Amino acid sequence: MTLTLNEKFIGNSCSEAQIAALAPEAENAFRRVLERTGRGADFLGWVDLPVKFDREEFARIKAAAQKIRGMCDIFVVLGIGGSYLGARAAVEFVRSPLYNALPHDGPDIYFAGNTISPSALCELLTICKGKDICVNVISKSGTTTETAVAFRVFRRLLVEKYGEQGARERIFATTDKARGTLKASSDREGYQTFVIPDDVGGRYSVLTAVGLLPIAVAGISIDDMMQGAADARAAYQTPDIRANTAMRYAAIRQLMYRGGKKVEMLVGYDPYLQMTAEWWKQLFGESEGKENKGLLPHSVIYTTDLHSMGQYLQQGERLMFETVLQVNDQDHAYKIPDDPTAGDGLDYLCGRELADVNHTAMLGTLFAHSDGDVPNLVIEVSERSAYSFGYLVYFFEMACACSGYMLGVNPFDQPGVESYKKNMFALLGKPGYEELRQTLSERMK
Ligand code: PA5
Repeated sequence: MTLTLNEKFIGNSCSEAQIAALAPEAENAFRRVLERTGRGADFLGWVDLPVKFDREEFARIKAAAQKIRGMCDIFVVLGIGGSYLGARAAVEFVRSPLYNALPHDGPDIYFAGNTISPSALCELLTICKGKDICVNVISKSGTTTETAVAFRVFRRLLVEKYGEQGARERIFATTDKARGTLKASSDREGYQTFVIPDDVGGRYSVLTAVGLLPIAVAGISIDDMMQGAADARAAYQTPDIRANTAMRYAAIRQLMYRGGKKVEMLVGYDPYLQMTAEWWKQLFGESEGKENKGLLPHSVIYTTDLHSMGQYLQQGERLMFETVLQVNDQDHAYKIPDDPTAGDGLDYLCGRELADVNHTAMLGTLFAHSDGDVPNLVIEVSERSAYSFGYLVYFFEMACACSGYMLGVNPFDQPGVESYKKNMFALLGKPGYEELRQTLSERMK
């Protein structure tokens, strides 16, 4: 597997000389990550995770996945943010966004507890009727409302269906090793538990049990995924910006930001990249969006979104650059069929590989958008696989940490996420929030 940056379409907003000028700063950021001397250094467990993970727990994850694959029709994964996006991204990247509808061994996989929408919950409950179910509840804090509410519902469903003991055998909890309500209730009930290490924050946790258990249940090789991450770690050990692609990507992002860009648009040309983009958005958005700073991470899937966002990208406010995630080896060959009677004007495409047409659409867009003054950086990965996914995860995590330090923020905290929670708790009448409830009630008058 290779991961390369193609800078042909980046325009003059980011010259080699500018990157070289930023190299000492990038190197300084990179050293703070490796030497654990930057802000938030207590959350750098992900740096060595691909080579220093708990082998015993890894084996338990595989065994649990095997068991789950044999005992249910539906596997419900409850979690939000960093406790869900990575696993879903991996399932869609390696398998398919249509995973449940396509032929597969093992259960269908649904992600819930990532919204408070009654429609989403009730629709899933309808799907679950008459089916055998296992649940993986994932929460580092063990107190996240969205996940806890969904878990209450699914726990009750399992108890009604299988009895208390039967339910226990079908609930798998991924949480802190000691703290939180979920840990306490798991110990009390005797659920099988998996640990989210203290030094790995939610959005950096896909290579822990948070991601590994659901990914293994989807029949994806977590050995290959960890190997991809380990090889990326080995590739990004050097502080030389000419060789360390993660550092270079971080430097390019910062050049763009300092040059006035406000938005980084992650672009994929395959729908299986959509959830990877959602994971990436959380990673960069939560890591950098603070102290009134940071590029806004946005995403599109082309060519679909060229028919909705294309006009803006080509001619709207020049506030963004695009980062195209290009997967080189297409896993599906499909030739556009010959049909002389169709009369659809497509004879010139007859016999052409759909992948070539998609690639050509990408080239046309790269020319058009860069001509339209939207710099385009292309991240090329060689293939669609578990290995590539692991490699990409580590690449983005390292780039994000370096970029955050270059921006001058702590890339490992998320203080802003608490604000809505406090207000919601106060308005819902949670004990301990009485004063804030009073203040907000006054403001609503
Ligand atoms: O990155 C983060 O820390 C957040 O997105 C969390 O993952 C998310 O809020 C879920 O938290 P928890 O795992 O504690 O339920």
